[in-house]
Amino acid sequence: MAPSAITPDVVPTVTGTGKSRLTKADHGYLDTSNDVVADYTTTEIRGNAEILTAASTKTYGDWRDDFFKKGYHVAKGAIPRERAESYRQRMLDWFANIASSVPSVSDKAFSYDDRSTWTQAHLPMMMKGGMIINYCAAHEAWAWELRSEPGVIEPFAQLWGDSELLVSFDAPNVTLPGRTDVPWSPWPHVDQSPTRKGLACVQGIINLSPAGPKDGGLLLYQGSSALFDQFFAENPPRAKVEGQPGQVDFYAFTEQDVEWFKQRGGCKLVKICAEPGDVIIWDSRTVHYAALPESDIIRTIQYATYAPRKLATETDLALKAELFRKHEASTHWPHCNIWGNGKAMRDGRICPAERDEPIEKPEITDTVLKLAGLKEY
Ligand SMILES: [Fe+2]
Repeated sequence: MAPSAITPDVVPTVTGTGKSRLTKADHGYLDTSNDVVADYTTTEIRGNAEILTAASTKTYGDWRDDFFKKGYHVAKGAIPRERAESYRQRMLDWFANIASSVPSVSDKAFSYDDRSTWTQAHLPMMMKGGMIINYCAAHEAWAWELRSEPGVIEPFAQLWGDSELLVSFDAPNVTLPGRTDVPWSPWPHVDQSPTRKGLACVQGIINLSPAGPKDGGLLLYQGSSALFDQFFAENPPRAKVEGQPGQVDFYAFTEQDVEWFKQRGGCKLVKICAEPGDVIIWDSRTVHYAALPESDIIRTIQYATYAPRKLATETDLALKAELFRKHEASTHWPHCNIWGNGKAMRDGRICPAERDEPIEKPEITDTVLKLAGLKEY
């Protein structure tokens, strides 16, 4: 079937546990993001690519021309620097607050001034040493204020040619430099299902800390987005392995895969540099991963993706509403691929620092309601 921008996504079949897609009330969590065995090798995910694919054929005489050519863009000064630094401080204060309720194996509580406490025993559970997908982080007041910043929304509105947007219930990322207890290796991936052809999603980072060549940041293979369909035509997607996200708009590459992009496509690894208040946006078909800080700066960012409400199905809007009610994070996708992340698990049990609601609840403004999909434009 030909994909269509307004054709609903296939709702992935839930198998294996018999549980609801979003309800994890019995706390029977798995490593994957949603208790779900839904895989691109067995579940066709399609659609949403028409608008941006058509947009990419036009000439604008502005940054969009470069974006469609290279697959990424840094929107400078989307948030005034002073305000970005204020958001950063609020995020760091929140992080310390959550960390303070993590039971430590020692008598010491987490402190930014004591690097011996920068270990998992003193910290909230995080993905890849920085992404915080639990603890109601996605729905803290600062997260919603960041998402509601007009300068953050604007580049997405320009790309989509649509100001009636939804936003993702995405995670913040607080990466402490110099940790030795985090097993880390590059995890090149795309945040788009191999079966979803074309330019279907543009994801973003609201950058709150300096991200120079030695700081934590985003690494991407420039030009890989344009090779997405060709790669999977020549290299059929593999089934997921244990520990990979349960959501479908994700695919992890091997070193051999990356060689394909380098050798066949001439793709070069690029470190995206940015200042506090800049927004980094990239085509979700771009092979990317994070660079750990080599400097002393704590990487502090908020992921945020925007897409038109008209692309969302009623089912996905309902799923989104349920997650909003539960103060739960979802994926990088705002309009589909809606999956919950449940509660953080520590040593096989729910982390004692978990919460049922944000520490500082957001003000429910008209903008919040619309971006969350709870109110029509
Ligand atoms: Fe990613």
